[in-house]
Amino acid sequence: MHIVFKALFLLILSATSIQTALQAQTGLLKTYENGVISSADEHASAAGLEILKQGGNAIDAAVAVQFVLAVTLPRAGNIGGGGFMVIRLADGNVTTLDFREKAPNAATRNMYLDEDGEYQSEKSKIGPLAAGVPGTVDGMISALERYGTLPLEIVMEPAIRLAGEGYRLSHSQARSLNNASDRLQQFEGSKQIFIKSNGTEWKEGDRFIQRDLAETLNRIATTGRRGFYAGLTARLIVNEMQRTGGIMTMRDLREYRSVWREPLKTEFNGYELYMMPPPSSGGFVMDQVLKMIETAGPDTLEFNSAEYVHLLAEAFRRSFADRNYWLGDPDFVDIPMGDLTGLNYIKERMGDFQTDHATLSEDISHGRVNITQESSETTHFNVSDRHGNSVAVNTTLNGSFGSFVTVTGAGFLLNNEMDDFSAKPGTPNMFGLIGAEANAIEPGKRMLSSMSPTIAVKDGKTRFIGGGAGGPRIITATLQNFLNMALFDMNAEQAIAAPRIHHQWLPDRLLVEGLFFSADTIHLLEEKGHHIQRIGNIALIHTIMMDENGLMHGAADPRGNGSVKGY
Ligand code: DON
Repeated sequence: MHIVFKALFLLILSATSIQTALQAQTGLLKTYENGVISSADEHASAAGLEILKQGGNAIDAAVAVQFVLAVTLPRAGNIGGGGFMVIRLADGNVTTLDFREKAPNAATRNMYLDEDGEYQSEKSKIGPLAAGVPGTVDGMISALERYGTLPLEIVMEPAIRLAGEGYRLSHSQARSLNNASDRLQQFEGSKQIFIKSNGTEWKEGDRFIQRDLAETLNRIATTGRRGFYAGLTARLIVNEMQRTGGIMTMRDLREYRSVWREPLKTEFNGYELYMMPPPSSGGFVMDQVLKMIETAGPDTLEFNSAEYVHLLAEAFRRSFADRNYWLGDPDFVDIPMGDLTGLNYIKERMGDFQTDHATLSEDISHGRVNITQESSETTHFNVSDRHGNSVAVNTTLNGSFGSFVTVTGAGFLLNNEMDDFSAKPGTPNMFGLIGAEANAIEPGKRMLSSMSPTIAVKDGKTRFIGGGAGGPRIITATLQNFLNMALFDMNAEQAIAAPRIHHQWLPDRLLVEGLFFSADTIHLLEEKGHHIQRIGNIALIHTIMMDENGLMHGAADPRGNGSVKGY
């Protein structure tokens, strides 16, 4: 009798504690049945929701979000930049859209070198020569034409309204404009819009109106591509170039086309991952690293233990060495993707991995295969709708406020994406990435990217949508976010808040979000030979996860000021 009572008591206790634990786990987490958006900005997520509620699908909403980000997150959201989109439709079909910028036709391999062959790094970062031919507008229109259900004018309405009527700056929006003011003043078009007319600093609550941008958006909404790549907007871009010494021409704009590409697909722990192929390197590195973990990792891994961090770091180190050497625009260079992501190659690549010892990056080079030949300056958002369509979009001007050049009279900033090329193979770019021949500048070529929009599917259902900001850290952070779910059963909030690490081969240092790793773990990693650098934040990631019942959970990175909206 006594034993039966005790067993019953234990049963009730464990049932109650499981329930409490589950409640605690999901307590913070809002669930949505009909649709959800996670993005870097409240207005953008609200616009996406508005479109979903009007009956639009995830693609309609994504286009609305992208255009609003150009208004309310001018340092990264854009119409003067580019990006990548991964779409998984309710019927299970997956496709990707490459709307990455291209080098203008007049671009040359050595355009950023002086007569002594020295790299003039400012030129690829600031000013008109830094800008690639923008792809965002063509990308949004292509996506909407192929998969959207609402007219362009409807999905662009929130952006046009916010640009024309203005919006109140948040604390972080005001701070980001003030922080960039020295550079923005240097360009007349930027000064007119982003510097306050009385010369004082922006404050939280100031109304920020962008009339020229509203008109440009209106031209796009009413005339489509021609509203940007021809006519007045194109002339204003070319005038800006001619006035300030840039090289983009009407022909460059007229010829720009985004490209539909087959997704890069891999499998891990029961999930199918759909990722961006080159000219993004995100999918490539994630594919290699997941296979390296499966090949060289132990059966069980403990979250953020020294053993796990070491394994990730060693995989990242090897994969970035390959990324930097082999990858470039697939329309210009042959990339032996099949070989580089094949299991035999991966095993060989991890052949010198030691559990107790970090490999020095100087001892690692790109692998050989037989062939016939910080920050928050980017942005990512996700949309999922009640039909089961999912969209992941990673988009950027590259650096904060891109080239700092605003097209006078058209009210939008141009990117400085040319810095993502290897301007001088062997010399690091602004993210410390050392590129090679495959990513050298050529007219009309797309520069290699780290943006990593990703969708993961289990048992035929979308379970994860993610991507982020942070240059090469986008790849490592998006992957860790996925692994937090796939290996450690974390929910969206937990996965996104969890501390991150980053390694990119060169420079040879292991970045860790310092406050959150114990002294013991750091010590163990240093003993293995890692050069640890503690930093505040690694990347900004936004995600949506779906549970096995199809309920949607969105999470915006607590390291930033993102926003989740759903219904
Ligand atoms: O495409 C790329 O990889 C870079 N242009 C991304 C830049 C970026 O993430 C800057 N922000 N943090």
